[in-house]
Amino acid sequence: MLSWDEFDKPEEGAAPAKAAAAAQQGNTDALDSDAAGSVEQARAIDANDSAAVARAKASLNELDIQEGLDDLAGASARVHVGDKQMINARADLNQLVPFKYDWAWQKYLDGCANHWMPQEVNMNADIALWKSKDGLSEDERRIVMRNLGFFSTADSLVANNLVLAVYRLITNPECRQYILRQAFEEAIHTHAYQYCIESLGMDEGEIFNMYHEIPSVAKKASWGLKYTRSISDPKFETGTPETDRQFLRNLIAYYCVLEGIFFYCGFTQILSMGRRNKMTGTAEQFQYILRDESMHLNFGIDVINQIKIENPHLWDAEMKDEATQMILQGTQLEIEYARDTMPRGVLGMNASMMEDYLKFIANRRLTQIGLPEQYPGTSNPFPWMSEIMDLKKEKNFFETRVIEYQTGGALSWD
Ligand SMILES: [Fe+2]
Ligand SMILES: [Fe+2]
Repeated sequence: MLSWDEFDKPEEGAAPAKAAAAAQQGNTDALDSDAAGSVEQARAIDANDSAAVARAKASLNELDIQEGLDDLAGASARVHVGDKQMINARADLNQLVPFKYDWAWQKYLDGCANHWMPQEVNMNADIALWKSKDGLSEDERRIVMRNLGFFSTADSLVANNLVLAVYRLITNPECRQYILRQAFEEAIHTHAYQYCIESLGMDEGEIFNMYHEIPSVAKKASWGLKYTRSISDPKFETGTPETDRQFLRNLIAYYCVLEGIFFYCGFTQILSMGRRNKMTGTAEQFQYILRDESMHLNFGIDVINQIKIENPHLWDAEMKDEATQMILQGTQLEIEYARDTMPRGVLGMNASMMEDYLKFIANRRLTQIGLPEQYPGTSNPFPWMSEIMDLKKEKNFFETRVIEYQTGGALSWD
């Protein structure tokens, strides 16, 4: 624990130091009494200044602060909750409080409370299993490879979309605070996949290029990228019904489809492996990631619904149809991914059970944003997935994690 007393001990030659401090105090008082004059004096270039210091002072003397003041015009007044809006707000974005969306701040706090790092998970059992000749079947190995291939780039797509497109267009500081937390979590997820790939000694080029080379992975990635492209142009602005809808489409694509559907086949497969005591370190990483992702998804759903409440004109019949189509397209691509990753039954599941699960998930995503279900009569064949996702059920989860730091590169295999 840091002790501030350490910094308050009298040093050798304390008496002169005290005198100097008193003299300095005198100077400070003088500055207070004639602030403007003193600032000018401090800015004056004198003979003792080095060339670099003189240049810094000179350029401040030429600084035009009007530009900065113009930027703040209209936003310089005290913020009232009523002025805050999810998109196109005029309230000052630099003032966090007063909160309008307490749920966004709460999600930020919950995200921080669940902080974890990939190196906290012991990968030794996975390395032994992965390297032993008959530790895993070919189908099981395919599942591990394909999922690391998809996720190792998918989380970068999500992070880039957040930072390069979404952050700028969400005009609410408490939501931006959560988005910053989410962006860091996406970096941790990419780190986790890299940590697994490195620990298992996989061919990094092969894994990281799957989103170009394996059609079922590539289709999902390019489906998401299309929505980033439309709003990542720095000149793109919301503020018209058409551009506001374009932004809404991006949020639905990323939160409801990418994070809400595209992750679910892979998460289910890897967690099913962990439940069978195989690749338990990798499964533990995926378990932490899934907990983060379910919070990202819930945040995104709340943002989308709030935009709908504040801008009801955007949510017309055409937009509802478009949103439904997006979710159905995403479900179809994920069903194709399930078939590609599971040509046969494996780990107590098969592609057809996964199809039922994905339709069940799609119905949830539709109803979460106020749209009718499109796959009537589906039920959840993997109820254990909901238990893993529910953060509140296992309060001690993060207290019982393995605190044994070992980096992938430091692990040895004999
Ligand atoms: Fe993620
Ligand atoms: Fe995420």
